[in-house]
Amino acid sequence: MEYEKVKEATEFIIDVINIKPQVGLILGSGLGFMADEVKNAIALDYKDIPNFPISTTPGHEGKLIAGKLFGKSVVVMKGRFHVYEGYDPSTVVFPVYVMKELGVERFLITNAAGGISRDFNPGDVVLIRDFISLLSFKNPLRGPNDEKFGPRFPDMSEPFDREWMERLKEKVNLKEGVYIWTLGPSYETPSEIKAFDKLGADLVGMSTVPEIIAANHLGLKVLGLSCVTNMAAGILDTPLSHEDVMRVADMVKGKFARIVKVALEVI
Ligand code: HPA
Repeated sequence: MEYEKVKEATEFIIDVINIKPQVGLILGSGLGFMADEVKNAIALDYKDIPNFPISTTPGHEGKLIAGKLFGKSVVVMKGRFHVYEGYDPSTVVFPVYVMKELGVERFLITNAAGGISRDFNPGDVVLIRDFISLLSFKNPLRGPNDEKFGPRFPDMSEPFDREWMERLKEKVNLKEGVYIWTLGPSYETPSEIKAFDKLGADLVGMSTVPEIIAANHLGLKVLGLSCVTNMAAGILDTPLSHEDVMRVADMVKGKFARIVKVALEVI
């Protein structure tokens, strides 16, 4: 990650937003509506921010929004970047470095995921306890390391803040799961899902892990929530589609918003 590029983007944003955000929020497929809840919102198009990548997926708008959300100063990414769009993992995490440079120390990330664990049902919101990055054979930190950001070999033994998870679970009844990152854009095969199950994965998705690795590199505290939009391939006898993913994410909107509200209270 090039410090100068991060700095240039950050300075541009600071000039416009006029606040120091406490919490960085990245919203996944169909969950961007939360950004509309931000009060005194100032929105910037990704395309106007120097060095920022641009979002291409339907359902992912490309806006950075700063303001107050449920009492916290936030900077929200409405729309994120994925490796399946053709970006390098290091490009996908560029905004996380910018958020840190803006002053963010706490980080909340959400996504849509397929359920591998039979304990889950479509529509469940699940706390991400840990992740498996292994089978992507990708790491956003590959390349020269700038010690200004973090160490060459960052610890990943607790990628999500345990204390925050416990505090949230005291207030909301939530299951936990391990999220496995796949590159996409094709959904998984039933055999892949069977293999992921054996590896200990409970949730599968095409995002989040690069950003979590970057956030840990930067020393940010992290909370992650998945919305189970479908059961993963082969768990049920139905084909998977982006339309179904978006439809379930849309149905879960209200519940998800309530959980994000409580999450912002406890972090
Ligand atoms: N697989 C991968 N990514 C996903 C899924 C899935 O089943 N559902 C939502 N995002």
